[in-house]
Amino acid sequence: MNLRTLSIIIIATGFIAVLALPISNYFLRREKIDDKSDNPRFIEVSKLMQVSCVDCHTQGMTSYPIYFQWPIAKEMIAHDIESAQTAFRLSKNQLAGLEPIGAIDLAKIATVIKSGSMPPAKYTLLHWSAALSDSQKGAILSYIQDKQEDSGIALTAIPEKNPFHVDVDKARLGERLYFDKRLSTDNSVSCASCHALDKGGTDRLRVSTGVHGEQGAINSPTVFNSAFNFCQFWDGRARDLADQVSGPITNPHEMATDFKSILTKLAGDTAYGAMSKAAYKASLSESNIKDAIANYEKTLLTPNSAFDKYLKGDQSALSDQQKRGYLTFMEKGCATCHAGVGMGGMSFEKMGVYKDYFAYRENTLHMPHTPADDGRFNVSHDRLDMGKFKVPLLRNIALTAPYFHDGSAATLREAVSVMGVYEAGNKLTAAETDSIVAFLESLTGEYKGKKLQ
Ligand code: HEC
Ligand code: HEC
Ligand code: HEC
Repeated sequence: MNLRTLSIIIIATGFIAVLALPISNYFLRREKIDDKSDNPRFIEVSKLMQVSCVDCHTQGMTSYPIYFQWPIAKEMIAHDIESAQTAFRLSKNQLAGLEPIGAIDLAKIATVIKSGSMPPAKYTLLHWSAALSDSQKGAILSYIQDKQEDSGIALTAIPEKNPFHVDVDKARLGERLYFDKRLSTDNSVSCASCHALDKGGTDRLRVSTGVHGEQGAINSPTVFNSAFNFCQFWDGRARDLADQVSGPITNPHEMATDFKSILTKLAGDTAYGAMSKAAYKASLSESNIKDAIANYEKTLLTPNSAFDKYLKGDQSALSDQQKRGYLTFMEKGCATCHAGVGMGGMSFEKMGVYKDYFAYRENTLHMPHTPADDGRFNVSHDRLDMGKFKVPLLRNIALTAPYFHDGSAATLREAVSVMGVYEAGNKLTAAETDSIVAFLESLTGEYKGKKLQ
């Protein structure tokens, strides 16, 4: 055998070995989902996703390739699937059309299909059938576009007329309670201490300080526009605003008291008696207090920001740099999570989708892990919810430094650049960062007809 023949044999063997992997993947078997939808367009989309996405994004539908048994491949694949399902999950019921795919998830699918980042190239290299053709991408995108109309995820102006049902008498009572320090054990702290209306609805501290100078575990989010949140708290443990109120009242680091003591203290206050009669035809009670404060909070909306004016057609409301920032914000996929009228508050997302944020924080900022960093996991106890937080609203964001649940980002610029790397998977250039910051500064709205400071 001469050298030439030998090299041909070696090359051919190599080829066959390389081809064996993708070819073997062709014969992988996977459960077929029986589509219960009566929408043929959805069935088409579901079929495409069952070929291209479910290996990584659907629990119980991964068909492991032969090379999964190889030591390094096994770890790489398992890690990939874990981070894939942390970022985005599709359930079998959703694929079958039995449960809807939420608006935020649809927006995320559209973003990755448009950018071509999913399915990942290293996957289609070995799974030829998973690559999506342009017409298949088009089918997915047009299905999503139709679904998205009226889904509430578009960035829209805060309406000037309050869209919530607010009872004026209840809100008036709630306002007085909101500023009343007797809601804390030593009469030193009110709701407004940590959610000051002249500080963007926050305390502008890294973590809050409660009674006896107690340091809290987490950064105080704004109360402005909090009615737009789909649930309350960073980890979503309160269903709504009324449900939220008992949190700070009983928290030992915040107001450290209970409703019984508050009601005893307020019993002699005739003004409260009268206001409660007017609002509830009853004297003050735990449930009235919660409901009244929630009514008041629903009045804390901030319409008429420069961005709102721009959305309503005033082209001159934004500078050129802000318009560029808006475009970049959309292009980088920021609005898939910071969606809807409040620009957030619609889903829980992992802090660190693309890179390990907590490792960065520990190494660079020397902030060790705390129980509060576990986020949504503390409520759901689902491992895939570890480090997920309710996406914060970006309305009035220029007024509420420091940023993130841990208050780790001192400036808006820093917060935006961290978001670029860890949440959007895209290091932003200095010019992009500046223009996004300028855009975010256009989100400062008005309260009672005055621009917030
Ligand atoms: C080989 C595994 C794999 C396949 C197949 C795959 N993905 Fe992913 N996907 C990932 C991983 C890993 C991530 C986490 C982010 C990252 O590391 O890129 C992810 C992230 C995502 C995200 C979240 C991105 C964000 O910015 O929030 C979406 C949405 C998504 N994938 C959709 C899809 C869709 C739709 C398909 C099919 C068309 C698909 N993926 C196919 C592995 C996969
Ligand atoms: C000692 C400071 C402090 C006091 C006092 C306080 N809060 Fe808070 N508030 C916080 C912190 C910190 C959080 C975030 C806690 C978390 O998510 O775990 C928070 C969260 C909230 C949220 C949820 C917002 C969101 O985006 O999820 C609302 C609404 C709220 N507080 C309203 C109130 C009301 C009403 C009162 C008075 C009854 C009050 N707070 C008293 C510090 C405080
Ligand atoms: C995958 C979802 C996701 C994407 C995409 C995303 N964010 Fe965020 N954003 C979050 C979450 C979750 C937090 C809260 C993280 C925390 O507190 O640990 C956050 C926090 C922020 C904050 C701080 C808010 C506050 O009140 O502390 C800013 C500012 C921000 N994001 C801007 C952006 C920008 C700009 C982009 C695009 C470059 C972006 N985000 C992309 C999910 C996302």
